[in-house]
Amino acid sequence: MRASSSGLEAILLVGGQGTRLRPLTLTTPKPLLPTAGVPFLAHQLAKARSYGVRRVVFATSYRAELFTEAFGDGSGFGLEIVYMTEKQPLGTGGAIRNAAAALTCPPDAPVLVMNGDILSGHDIAAQVEAHLSRDAAVTLHLTEVEDPSRFGCVPITPDGRVTAFLEKTPNPVTNLINAGCYVFRRSVIDSAIPPGQVVSVERETFPKLIEDGALVLGYVDSSYWLDVGTPSAFVQGSADLVLGKLKSPALPGEAGEYLVLEGATVSPEAKLTGGTVVGTRAMVEAGASVQGSVVSDDAVIASGAVVVDSVVGAGARIDPGAVLRDVVVGDRARIGSGNELTSGLRVWPGVTLPECAVRFSSDI
Ligand code: GDD
Ligand code: MG
Repeated sequence: MRASSSGLEAILLVGGQGTRLRPLTLTTPKPLLPTAGVPFLAHQLAKARSYGVRRVVFATSYRAELFTEAFGDGSGFGLEIVYMTEKQPLGTGGAIRNAAAALTCPPDAPVLVMNGDILSGHDIAAQVEAHLSRDAAVTLHLTEVEDPSRFGCVPITPDGRVTAFLEKTPNPVTNLINAGCYVFRRSVIDSAIPPGQVVSVERETFPKLIEDGALVLGYVDSSYWLDVGTPSAFVQGSADLVLGKLKSPALPGEAGEYLVLEGATVSPEAKLTGGTVVGTRAMVEAGASVQGSVVSDDAVIASGAVVVDSVVGAGARIDPGAVLRDVVVGDRARIGSGNELTSGLRVWPGVTLPECAVRFSSDI
């Protein structure tokens, strides 16, 4: 471990509502959704810890109490975790400013700030080193994506200086985007973000720093990167962790085609592939096929059902022969036999879709 990142303090932004992941996030905040067998954040925390982070301030708002229940004082994760909760969400910038009050490091120390919905293989120590060697105000991890319009578009000069920050612009000028992991000089948080106000770090703080001539640095890295903010990305992230495409110290078991958690029952005649995870007490019956999907705790996939790239919520039941592709089934919902659901369909918690009799033309 390089000295520059060990003993680093971090702020984790976890106050968003996760609206694009409804109905999963109606009850569980996005950063706590079970992902490859553990709450999503466990992967980010284990990674931060592996780079020497020992103290993390959680910037919470939506359902803050659930984070305390899941992570407590952090000792179970080899970390000290403290919580700073916004009564009303203060936006990404306001949340960083509010959380910074709980930091213990000196004004010139680097502080790691992370969006709480990112899976990334990038080298945090190298990002911190780049930040310190250039004495930057803030250093942004940047990555290249095909469609930058959904993210913060970040053009840079050849020596890495950020020249603009264009949040969710319909006219992106580069494929380089903000990957949601920053190193701030601590004093910059206090001087650039007003306290107690709703502030967007992307729409206000970064553009203002750039305009004022502060050194905002881009740290470009092309290793694995994913924002799990949509159902299909969430399913992909979980599958990639199980498959080992992104190595996570928090994965509860060996990487492979599937991960079956303790207490689950999977028939030897069921087929699990593509990084599927089967939750505690869940059941997958003979002849069922589950590919690249998340089967949550206590869910049942009955015989002959086919589940592809989907999330099956806790206690949900997929009846014999039902087919799901790219679907989210809420907790305790039931999908009757014969239903074939596709293309981003979402079934709300507790809803029952009755059996759907399949009629062939010869019957009519
Ligand atoms: N505490 C707190 N308070 N946290 C918040 C708030 C708030 O008011 N609003 C959002 N967050 C947290 C979310 O929980 C999430 O972890 C993070 O801030 C980013 O919010 P998202 O809602 O996921 O934003 P996004 O994905 O649309 O865009 C952001 O991430 C992209 C990379 O994935 C931006 O930072 C983009 O510039 C970036 O490209
Ligand atoms: Mg996001």
